[in-house]
Amino acid sequence: MSEIEDRRLFSTYQRYGIKLVKGRGARVWDNFGREYVDFMAGFGVGILGHGHPDVVKAIQEQLESIFICHGSVYNEARERFLEELFRVAPRHMSRAFMSNSGAEANELALKLARKYTGRKGFIAFTGAYHGKTAGALSVTFSPKYREGFEPLLEPVKFLKYGDIKALDDADFKEAAAVIVEPIQGESGIIVPPDDFLPTLQEKARAAGSLLIVDEVQSGMGRTGKWWAHQHWGLEPDIMTAGKGIGGGVPMGVTVATESVAQALKVGEHSSTMGGNPLASAAGAATIKAVDGLLDKVEDRGRAIMSGINRANSPLVREVRGKGLMIAIDLKVRFRDVLLEAMNNGLISLYSGLTVIRFLPPYIINSKDIADAVEIFSKSIQKIEKKMSV
Ligand SMILES: Cc1ncc(COP(=O)(O)O)c(C=O)c1O
Repeated sequence: MSEIEDRRLFSTYQRYGIKLVKGRGARVWDNFGREYVDFMAGFGVGILGHGHPDVVKAIQEQLESIFICHGSVYNEARERFLEELFRVAPRHMSRAFMSNSGAEANELALKLARKYTGRKGFIAFTGAYHGKTAGALSVTFSPKYREGFEPLLEPVKFLKYGDIKALDDADFKEAAAVIVEPIQGESGIIVPPDDFLPTLQEKARAAGSLLIVDEVQSGMGRTGKWWAHQHWGLEPDIMTAGKGIGGGVPMGVTVATESVAQALKVGEHSSTMGGNPLASAAGAATIKAVDGLLDKVEDRGRAIMSGINRANSPLVREVRGKGLMIAIDLKVRFRDVLLEAMNNGLISLYSGLTVIRFLPPYIINSKDIADAVEIFSKSIQKIEKKMSV
């Protein structure tokens, strides 16, 4: 319902058909004044919801001092961001490169691995999503995203996600790095078996391949720890972050150990907008604010999942997830349920063909949770009736 967007933008997005004009906390409003609970939150970007006062204040103050400053010139907002980032980053990592998106953060991770190891290949996983720029797309699994754009980076070997036997059978010796989502997001919130990631780390290390963990969706507190890989005690060589890390302002970050980061020399990577003061200020405020919410993430996630389970719908195959990274796997295609819920006031997202995904803000209160659960339950019941199950 935007004539100019439909006519003038490349037609690359599946559209929801609503136009949002205002957001506060976990609620958004469309141009007809209809209110929605926002469990999409910009595809997981809005970790503090809309208009968080600390983020708004940080951005406003930065706008009034300086908001254009290239990475070749020092800047106080960037300094503050780095102080916050390395307060919460894994302790064995010490350097970061700041960019503008998750895909960009992964591009650098792949470059860095090649430069450090002198090897060309990569190992990635079935179901993996690391972005759609050429390098990131090379390690993204889905043929529907890749077809028409190959050859991409080569060689890339895709192993079965979550399968220890696949790790045992694989040869890591040619791989510059293994890139993995600690919990897969786009493919439907897949939490791997407990021994999968530690075994992967062991195999990669033994073969001299780097371990890249992509925390673009699962990081920044989404699962109740700052970084999802910490649930399994991993020590990756490179970690990437994006989505909510800039508090809604575009930002991607590639973090690495000292020795890996030292592989890049002056001029070998850059980004005109990376580390800009506005994103830095918003990011520093966001990290501070997430601090006070981390210990609530898992309880809030559990409350949502048990609420959905209570609805006991015959159309739901499984409710799964960790923290506020939640999937409702349906026995039918997601579309009718997602649209019915949206028409009743709950915006969610999807994965594959049958999964409704929730990536709500961490600031959700009990009313937001109760409303979302009620709307979802009512909506799925309506679809059940329509299908007479
Ligand atoms: C795990 C993961 N990596 C990378 C990306 C790509 O991030 P962006 O869309 O900011 O380029 C995404 C986006 O959904 C993601 O979920």
